[in-house]
Amino acid sequence: MKLSGFDVRSLAPSDHAIIADLFASDPNHSALVQSGVLAPDKAHAIFTDLPLGKALHDKFVWGVFDDGAVVAVIDLIRDYPTPDTWVLGLLFVTPQLRNEGLGARMIDAVCRHAAEEGGAKLRLAVTHKNTDAQRFYVRAGFSNAGTRDRREADGRVTKLHVMDKALTRA
Ligand SMILES: CC(C)(COP(=O)(O)OP(=O)(O)OC[C@H]1O[C@@H](n2cnc3c(N)ncnc32)[C@H](O)[C@@H]1OP(=O)(O)O)[C@@H](O)C(=O)NCCC(=O)NCCS
Repeated sequence: MKLSGFDVRSLAPSDHAIIADLFASDPNHSALVQSGVLAPDKAHAIFTDLPLGKALHDKFVWGVFDDGAVVAVIDLIRDYPTPDTWVLGLLFVTPQLRNEGLGARMIDAVCRHAAEEGGAKLRLAVTHKNTDAQRFYVRAGFSNAGTRDRREADGRVTKLHVMDKALTRA
């Protein structure tokens, strides 16, 4: 995946400390919205979390670096739940760089990449409390595609808004 002005690197489980540092830059977000999913000590899970039936070779984690420092991360899964649908598991921009258009550019880059690889649709699920992200995704061209519940490790249930965007090849 390419993003002009930034270095985009594919990350491996051994890079979990890079993700932990990024999550640690936003303690409010992990506690309030994601029920601890983005807690620094859960950083390794980004490399292994997969829907049932998917294998690790369909999972991609990219770090976005600026002058050698990680500023954002993308987690993408290929061909789920159907062969032409790609799932955006996480898009995270460090708080210091938010509201400058980086998130929107990352969405464009993800859409381009998935379309080039044969994807027809990009899907994501955002927690119902994360209204900022919902507004961001609507602006980026996503539409509501229903809701579903996610049971967290502590037994609580989080309501998720599923959102889709059709992909077109350039
Ligand atoms: C959601 C998220 C990825 C958006 O990233 P971002 O880099 O801030 O996104 P953008 O800058 O493109 O857009 C965000 C806002 O800034 C505004 N904006 C975009 N470019 C701008 C610019 N050049 N100057 C000022 N504002 C700008 C957008 O209009 C948008 O406004 P809104 O809040 O009214 O929707 C980021 O907030 C984030 O990482 N949040 C925590 C993790 C998360 O919730 N991820 C989504 C669920 S997986």
